[in-house]
Amino acid sequence: MSPSREKSISVANLPAVRNRPRGPRGSCGSCGSVNLATTACIVVNVIYMLLLFVCSKQLHSPLRKRAFLFDSSVFHFPEEAFRLDYEQMEEEFKVFVYPDGDPETYFHTPRKLTGKYASEGYFFKNIRESRFVTDDPRRAHLFFLPISCHKMRGRGLTNEDMIDEVKKYVEYVKFKYPYWNRTLGADHFFVTCHDIGVKATKGVPHLMKNSIRVVCSSRYDDDDYIPHKDVTLPQVQLPFFHPPGGNDFKNRNTLAFWAGRSDSRLKDDLTAMWDNDTELDIQNNRIDFRATGHLVFMERLYKSKFCLCPHGPIGSSRITDSIHFGCVPVIMSNYYDLPFNDVLDWRKFSVILKETDVYLLKDILRSISEKHFMILNQNLVKIQKHFNWNTPPVRLDAFHMVMYELWRRRHLIRY
Ligand SMILES: *[C@@H]1O[C@H](CO)[C@@H](O)[C@H](O)[C@H]1NC(C)=O
Ligand SMILES: *[C@@H]1O[C@H](CO)[C@@H](O)[C@H](O)[C@H]1NC(C)=O
Repeated sequence: MSPSREKSISVANLPAVRNRPRGPRGSCGSCGSVNLATTACIVVNVIYMLLLFVCSKQLHSPLRKRAFLFDSSVFHFPEEAFRLDYEQMEEEFKVFVYPDGDPETYFHTPRKLTGKYASEGYFFKNIRESRFVTDDPRRAHLFFLPISCHKMRGRGLTNEDMIDEVKKYVEYVKFKYPYWNRTLGADHFFVTCHDIGVKATKGVPHLMKNSIRVVCSSRYDDDDYIPHKDVTLPQVQLPFFHPPGGNDFKNRNTLAFWAGRSDSRLKDDLTAMWDNDTELDIQNNRIDFRATGHLVFMERLYKSKFCLCPHGPIGSSRITDSIHFGCVPVIMSNYYDLPFNDVLDWRKFSVILKETDVYLLKDILRSISEKHFMILNQNLVKIQKHFNWNTPPVRLDAFHMVMYELWRRRHLIRY
């Protein structure tokens, strides 16, 4: 709304001004030379300005009240834009799942939704339970190749066998249906969290190059990962055993925490540098989730302000762990395509560092004020739902966020 229009609306609503004999604006010159009149004139103008201010505030307030599920303090763009697009996805998005292949291998839902396959397991189960699946390929925006790599692994196939198996599967689909050839696979996607699953798809060049890969290993310097085309699947190691944390900054007395086994140069540097530090709780050891170890580990996630998420060669569930327990994640990984990065503004609930910042770690974390930390800690609570898997899936959870990322990639020309 333009300022002049706003003013004219406000003026019409002003009883004090309307009652004045000489029009809404009134100039003091026309009030005569009497001092009393001048004073009255100033008072009226001050009231006019005040009312103008109040009216303009009221005109804007209805927009502010629509926060609820979509909280703009953690999104990149105005919540309204995301909300509308998300709701359109819920209404319209359709996916065709290829029904072919041995049901013990393809489109197989694992019995246990735990461990390192949890994210892909949930996705397979959730898409069946959702409204997005259609039997009519003509209505489909995207086509799902339900390759279950964990199942092939379970059957004892070697990497080469798996590549062969996936190759045969895609060739079969290509001959049987007209859909692949229309875009050379560009409106097709597959989902796999484990790096073995990614390797298994390497035998079909167009599957790597054209199709949307929903994967956990998503660094720009990984030769296979293509930002903007591919989608990051947040890795989780379920179950969590303990309820979510957050909004609990008073309990967090340790500055930062990391425990694990080093499998990268960065983790070597991290432990070499900070092993015996009194403020940073850094431990180079293997975490035993089954023994009492996990209790101690979880306890630390509740008591630390920051949880370090250093990059390693294999994917890590550490980021989702930190989010769940309300421990602000410190991302120490160059060129990592963070999950839902184009929707969520990660700087509002995490700390993102370069790998070389490991040497300055303590100074950087100490320089973050209490107030800033409180905001990060509170914002974590707002985004926890986007990293939760549920069965059946619920609005805005990890499954729906992955679907939304796919929805954003649906526009294609078909030949
Ligand atoms: C798709 O293209 C391949 C050639 O790349 C061809 O052999 C195949 O028959 C085509 N599929 C269909 C369904 O026409
Ligand atoms: C930490 O302490 C242990 C045992 O006291 C010692 O072996 C190790 O070298 C120390 N690490 C650093 C980085 O000072």
